[in-house]
Amino acid sequence: MRIDKLLAHSGLGTRKEVKKLLKSSIIEINGEIVKDPKTQVDPDQDEIKIAGDQLDYQEFVYFMLNKPAGVISATEDVMHETVLDLLELSDIVQEPHPVGRLDIDTEGLLLLTNDGGLTHRLLSPKHHVDKTYLAEIEGIVTEEDVAAFRKGVELDDGYQTMPAELKVLAVDEESQTSNIEITIQEGKFHQVKRMFHAVGKEVLYLKRLSMGPLTLDPHLELGAYRECTKEEIAQLKAE
Ligand code: URA
Repeated sequence: MRIDKLLAHSGLGTRKEVKKLLKSSIIEINGEIVKDPKTQVDPDQDEIKIAGDQLDYQEFVYFMLNKPAGVISATEDVMHETVLDLLELSDIVQEPHPVGRLDIDTEGLLLLTNDGGLTHRLLSPKHHVDKTYLAEIEGIVTEEDVAAFRKGVELDDGYQTMPAELKVLAVDEESQTSNIEITIQEGKFHQVKRMFHAVGKEVLYLKRLSMGPLTLDPHLELGAYRECTKEEIAQLKAE
């Protein structure tokens, strides 16, 4: 790839700013100063230094975000704040995208990456990646609901869902609400909400806790994010 592209992707500025850096004779490839932005470089083979410091270039980035309500799982939108607006500028240069969608009012785990291959695998309907959610439900969730979800329920458009594991964590008779945990392996539009709707109940609050091997870091505040660890990335790739 071109050195100016690599430097821009590494967060060192726009292509124009990077050109200036190159002009200032501080960029070295394998010990030689380079000034030409078109110079080809192989980040796996070549040693790149900026003012004497080695550049650690990563082709792919992986971020775990605790999505708050009110932002949408898209890369751009004219009306609403997007999950990318929550990232620092230096983390956007490599153009990560959200892996799947959470509704605007859903909170919790969202993976952002520019690794298209991984995204494709995780979202492929063939892969059946587990997604676990915590929810507050209007209504008393019963053992019949648990059994119905275990078989799969029919959604409003006639689609029969795959089996889902539903656990009732607590019921509050007074407020007629229930706290549950649900694991689904699909990602149909509004799936959890529509599954509860199919058994006559409504989701009041929804938060994703995990996706495949990736579990939401409890230290991440709403709206905060961090890079995935090497172990998390390896587990995701092995999924
Ligand atoms: N199911 C939903 O209904 N909404 C989400 O955001 C995720 C799963």
